[in-house]
Amino acid sequence: MIRFALIGAGRIGQMHAANIVAHDRCSLNWIYDVHAPSSEAVGAKTGAKVARDLDEIFNDADVDAVFVASSTPTHADFIVRSVQSGKAVLCEKPIDLDIAKVEECSKQISSAKSLIQIGFNRRFDPGHGQLVSAVRNGEIGDLEQVIISSRDPEPPPKAYYLAAGGMLRDMTIHDFDLARFALGEEVTQVTAFTSNLFDTVAKEIGEIDSAMILMKTASGKLCHINNSRHATYGYDQRLEAHGSQGMLRSENRQPTSVERFNAKGSHWRDACEFFFIERYRQAYLKQLESFMDTLEAGSESKVSFEDGRRALILANAAYRSVETGNVVTVNYENPLERAS
Ligand SMILES: NC(=O)c1ccc[n+]([C@@H]2O[C@H](COP(=O)([O-])OP(=O)(O)OC[C@H]3O[C@@H](n4cnc5c(N)ncnc54)[C@H](O)[C@@H]3O)[C@@H](O)[C@H]2O)c1
Repeated sequence: MIRFALIGAGRIGQMHAANIVAHDRCSLNWIYDVHAPSSEAVGAKTGAKVARDLDEIFNDADVDAVFVASSTPTHADFIVRSVQSGKAVLCEKPIDLDIAKVEECSKQISSAKSLIQIGFNRRFDPGHGQLVSAVRNGEIGDLEQVIISSRDPEPPPKAYYLAAGGMLRDMTIHDFDLARFALGEEVTQVTAFTSNLFDTVAKEIGEIDSAMILMKTASGKLCHINNSRHATYGYDQRLEAHGSQGMLRSENRQPTSVERFNAKGSHWRDACEFFFIERYRQAYLKQLESFMDTLEAGSESKVSFEDGRRALILANAAYRSVETGNVVTVNYENPLERAS
């Protein structure tokens, strides 16, 4: 039985709390949020103790793992505090928006023995995960191209834009990680175009609502990511891999599998699952299970701190490409050096 403390009782924290309490291999011992009414609501729903301060969690020998689901700027500090207290940590993406802070965090945890897993849940989606396994098993021969489509159903409110820190580091970060996972080798070159095409709220604050990114690995494999902050048909989440012996596609999911046929058309299905909580329901659960498996086995993290760091480095390279109009060579070793 793995005993969790959860930090953050917002949108995603509430879902993680429900998953932890519903699972027979773990328990939710503590919940903490700076906004007390949020943690109290989760405490009342789950039976978890409501921490009044973080020391109650970090000093509790009966906590095996900390699940960090608080706002992004808190993640690096909570990772450090968790590992310094000898706790395993499952931390939501991104580690931080600032690579300098990630590098500092990396130094502070360099000698830590604790398991650290970053919440790139898409790796655990049954469809996406199976596609990547099929690529690794050679089902499509030599992998040549990866195509990731990721479109939100609707733009977020202004307050979200202002806090999120930019689309490529907040939203596309999932796709940078999925690209690395699917390609199975490091991206060395990045070029990106971004645009504001439809969202006046985003435009008002100088934010983008659309992006297309092209990337290349050292061996020449190509990857395309396309993002939009809206899609009329729901949360559009597709992954495609093309190789010398065929093609693999992990498709969107609909709430039901009913297909409709009438005089206007055929094969109409429901709109896609609305957003991430619905679309990636299974992925969040499998992510939790994988974390527990790794912790119990004492094995290597499936989605390491370094994976989180590298996804941010790719996001920064994409921003640099937008700024300069150039193809950017990715520098994983010294990401604080300004890329060409
Ligand atoms: N993996 C995914 O699919 C996914 C989806 C959504 C959000 N996220 C990530 O999860 C995190 C939370 O996102 P959200 O949408 O739930 O945001 P949210 O604003 O709904 O919730 C964040 C919560 O953190 C709390 N908080 C802020 N500072 C804190 C602190 N110092 N200590 C404790 N609690 C603190 C806030 O009070 C709030 O309740 C973000 O980093 C986001 O990027 C990941």
